[in-house]
Amino acid sequence: MQLNQRIEQVKMDAKERLNHVKTLQEFQELKADVLGKKGPFTELLSSMKDLSAQERPAFGQVINQSKAEVLAWFEDKSQQLEQQLVNEALQKEAIDVTLPGKTIRYGSRHLIRQIIEEVEDLFIGMGYEVKEGPEVEIDHYNFEMLNLPKSHPARDMQDSFYITEELLLRTHTSPVQVRTMLENTLQQPVRIICPGKVYRRDDDDQTHSHQFTQIEGLVVDSTATFSDLKGTLLVLAKQLFGEERQIRLRPSYFPFTEPSVEVDVSCYKCGGMGCSMCKQTGWIEILGAGMVNNNVLAAAGYDPQKFQGFAFGVGVERLAILKYGIDDIRNLYTNDLRFNRQFK
Ligand code: PHE
Repeated sequence: MQLNQRIEQVKMDAKERLNHVKTLQEFQELKADVLGKKGPFTELLSSMKDLSAQERPAFGQVINQSKAEVLAWFEDKSQQLEQQLVNEALQKEAIDVTLPGKTIRYGSRHLIRQIIEEVEDLFIGMGYEVKEGPEVEIDHYNFEMLNLPKSHPARDMQDSFYITEELLLRTHTSPVQVRTMLENTLQQPVRIICPGKVYRRDDDDQTHSHQFTQIEGLVVDSTATFSDLKGTLLVLAKQLFGEERQIRLRPSYFPFTEPSVEVDVSCYKCGGMGCSMCKQTGWIEILGAGMVNNNVLAAAGYDPQKFQGFAFGVGVERLAILKYGIDDIRNLYTNDLRFNRQFK
């Protein structure tokens, strides 16, 4: 075969095969085949030894030119392949913005949580700190430090779950008062609000639950008075039941406060005229409170000659029931979503 023809054939063959290349790997294999050391161009160059000395330079040039041409085709192809890969990647990652979105369902805060946070916010605004204590409490803090020694008859007011002789599920959040004062070894003024779960031995029914939630308040300094307590509770009652509400204090008894009061809010349904909600009295009981008993201050290291204060404890479930007319306390912990979703 003529050398000229052979060169043409090598070129055409390379072009033809290059056209069929689909992947980068095929490309690299073909490039090594055609342009590599064992490829047809090497073979062509070595076949020049059969030519005469005059013919050689011209053919050498033709071969080198052809090789350069083929190399250029390979470069084109390589660019094509790269573009193709980019396009494929783009296509794969394409986002169809017209597809309908997946609905993300948000949870919501439980009604009890919502009320706790509402009360917390109110008191934080008045300079209080939020404090928490353990639900498994020692008898000493739950009762004794609160002026309720072992044989005190008022212990019967709060039927307890004992774990051991000395350990029980706290019956109220009042032990957090004790813990906070004891922690405060410098006897600085105290202004705290303490939400949390409490436990009492009760048979669960529409109006009783063995576990419920309280928010405790405690203020201790050198000047806090009974009228400060009254003003504070009025602010709380208005926050929870509306600006028009009034409060009324009735004498009561708690071992840890003296004097003690039971606090009523004017009926938010009838405005105090008397209705079925307030049993025709115009008033609804919402919490217990009083001036911190001197024995409690002294036991916790606060000199009653220098310090005084007030405390209150409010049941959150009771607030929820009153505020939303809930007819069964069990709705507040059985977590029926149909119930819970009403308070989103
Ligand atoms: N700890 C009392 C209770 O659970 C409520 C209370 C707290 C009363 C603080 C007075 C002062 O019944």
